[in-house]
Order: sequence, then structure tokens, then C-alpha cells
Amino acid sequence: MNEKIRIMPEYSAQGIKKQVSPLLSFAIQKSNELLNQNKIINNPLIVEHGCGLLRNTKELIKYYDKIILVDTEFQLKSLHNFEGNLLTIEQYVKTKWSRKNIIIMTNKEYINENNDVDIIYSINVLDVTHPMIRKEIYKSFIKTMNRNTLLVVILSRNDSWTLRLCKNTNKYFDGYVFKNRDAYTFYKNWNGNTLHKDLEKRGFKIINDFTNYKYVGLILSKK
Ligand SMILES: C[S@@+](CC[C@H](N)C(=O)[O-])C[C@H]1O[C@@H](n2cnc3c(N)ncnc32)[C@H](O)[C@@H]1O
Repeated sequence: MNEKIRIMPEYSAQGIKKQVSPLLSFAIQKSNELLNQNKIINNPLIVEHGCGLLRNTKELIKYYDKIILVDTEFQLKSLHNFEGNLLTIEQYVKTKWSRKNIIIMTNKEYINENNDVDIIYSINVLDVTHPMIRKEIYKSFIKTMNRNTLLVVILSRNDSWTLRLCKNTNKYFDGYVFKNRDAYTFYKNWNGNTLHKDLEKRGFKIINDFTNYKYVGLILSKK
């Protein structure tokens, strides 16, 4: 596909009722263990970058009290169906998790924030964003990580049903595009160690690797 098309990674987000990423609870335990290795951090500040429709937030809030939820302005401004009610992400968070300290920011606001972030979670984002957006996301991570901040990257891969839809006719940059509503969604299957290499090239160091055939799971720091 050569023509310029409108990609909306926002449309790739699965609803809040969908299953939490199967690697997430291991990632939470492992990253907490690593975070507390040198110094005990009682109430860590967590960022969920690309929180989507809060599918994994419902798991993260079981472990953490201080969370920054980040997504695009479009995703944050849109109304979504949360348990039968049309609400923004902020409205849902306020009614459902009012006791937690949750701040909601656009990706553009987040990159300019100077928070002392302990762990950034990025779940199923780097597989649905094309190279230009990924570059921006990496830049945002590097800018907001200090030398102790951990970055947890999880994504799904090698799903045979999805792979069957990836053909020469819908190839786009280093992935594939699919018509979705009034735009397209993007997908890149990060097979083997391709994501590992990409992250290392962008200035990250792998600290823990719990990748398997169906999922990439990495805990990283800044080099
Ligand atoms: C497939 S969804 C994943 C949502 C959630 N993490 C999950 O696993 O259910 C990808 C999310 O990344 C968001 N996203 C796309 N570009 C982004 C960017 N530059 N910064 C932050 N989030 C972004 C999309 O809007 C979308 O909500």
C-alpha cells in the first residue's frame, strides 16, 4: 500500500471487560521486586502509557495507588461504552476509582511532565503504532525516565488469525493496515528478538525478559 492513509491506533483498544494481559501479573511482581532491590519504595508512581479503555488498568489499581494514565487526546476526549454508560475515561475513573490517586494526561502533556516516575507500563501499544509514532513514544519514555525508572513492555504476537490477515496488499511501513470505521488500524508482529533489538537501539537496556512465543514481555531501564 503506497497511498497516505489515516491510521487510528485508538481504534485498536479493547474494552474494559476484555481479559487482562496474561503476562501482566508476573510483570507487576517482577518489576516491584526489581524496583525495591536497592531502596524500598513504599508508594511507587506508575504510568500506564497508552491506557486505552482501561483493560489492564483494572489490574494495575489492585497493586498501585498513584497512577498516571496517558493516551492520545482523541482517546481521552472520546465517549466510550463503560459497562453500558457512555463516558470519557476521566469520568469513568472518577466514579469507579475515586479513592485512588489517578491523574489523566494526553501523550503531549505527559512528555513535558517532570514527575519522578518509578515504573512505566506500555501494554499492546508498540505493536499497533507505526514507526513515526513509535519514535515519539520512545522519546517520551527516555525523557521521563530517571536512572531507576523501569519500563515494562508487553505485547501479543504470532496470533495465527491476525497473521492470516497480513498480506502483501495491506503491507504498510514495517507492518500491516486494516480498514477500521473511517480510518485504518496498524499492526506489526514483533517476532523473534526484533523488539528487543529495536529497544536496545533506542537507548534501553533489558533487565528481565519473560517473552514467550505468544507474547513479548520485557522490563527495561535507560542505558
Ligand atoms: C491496542 S491499544 C492498548 C490499550 C491498553 N494498553 C490495553 O492493552 O488494553 C493502544 C493504545 O495506545 C494509544 N496510543 C497510540 N498512540 C499513542 C501515543 N503516542 N501515546 C500514548 N498512547 C498512544 C491508543 O490510543 C490506544 O489506546
